[in-house]
Amino acid sequence: MMTPGHTNGGDRRPIGVFDSGVGGLTVARALMDLLPDERIVYVGDTARGPYGPRDLDEVRGFTAEIVHHLAAQDVKLAVAACNTATAAMTEADRAGFPLPVEGVIEPAVRAAVRATCTGRVGVIGTTGTIGSGAYDAAVQATGAPVELVSQACPRFVELVEAGRTTDEEVLAVARDYLDPLLSANVDTVILGCTHYPLLTGVLSYVLGPGTVLVSSAEETARSVFARLVDTGALSDGALADSHRFVSSGEPTAFAALAHRFLGPRLTDTAIEPLPVGAAS
Ligand code: DGL
Repeated sequence: MMTPGHTNGGDRRPIGVFDSGVGGLTVARALMDLLPDERIVYVGDTARGPYGPRDLDEVRGFTAEIVHHLAAQDVKLAVAACNTATAAMTEADRAGFPLPVEGVIEPAVRAAVRATCTGRVGVIGTTGTIGSGAYDAAVQATGAPVELVSQACPRFVELVEAGRTTDEEVLAVARDYLDPLLSANVDTVILGCTHYPLLTGVLSYVLGPGTVLVSSAEETARSVFARLVDTGALSDGALADSHRFVSSGEPTAFAALAHRFLGPRLTDTAIEPLPVGAAS
């Protein structure tokens, strides 16, 4: 059956993506890479973020408010591009929402369960996400014989937002946080926070090349791809490249941080010519 947004060109309605702030742009970026024909409406709740240190019930309320806002924008699917928001949503919340809401936890857990050889998996995230036990529940739901070692890393968000992803202090903080995972001999680590893909260099350096890092951003994008294909809801791209960015807080601060998370975009003027073949 065709939904109201369906045309012969598929379902051209946008995908809604939301987060406590700019971190969910790592998910938006992964979606743009995998689904270049889709439009995105991104909502960053910068006025109330970060969510990590907040009470989960409060985050649950914010999440419901934003999902209803996106539903009113006629998006075809919403992505909770925030681990803390995903951890705060209950099954009953999801079932009661007026549109499907994809979270970032289950896709990452499925990938980690597939990737581990030893059955010892680590997860790092905000205090809210780790304290919620949502990753433990998701691992248990897979039925796989996996032992999960969890570690909250509250300082990582503040360091990434300050643009600090390579210096000595970041390395020292990472060594401190990751020590329990190293002692537990995990062979796979889930980056259970939207900001952590930007710390991939430090994390792989400290954990060593033998540890598989699972990015919830990339895994969620793959999961959204599969859902759109399976439900016949892909867009034909006629309206692509008209993404919208919405912020509950100050727009300049949002824009200043956004480019770091969304990735640098090349403009025509950035390309320098290379004359070739003149010497022969
Ligand atoms: N987006 C959050 C998450 O993935 C990190 C930032 C915050 O604490 O709100 O958990």
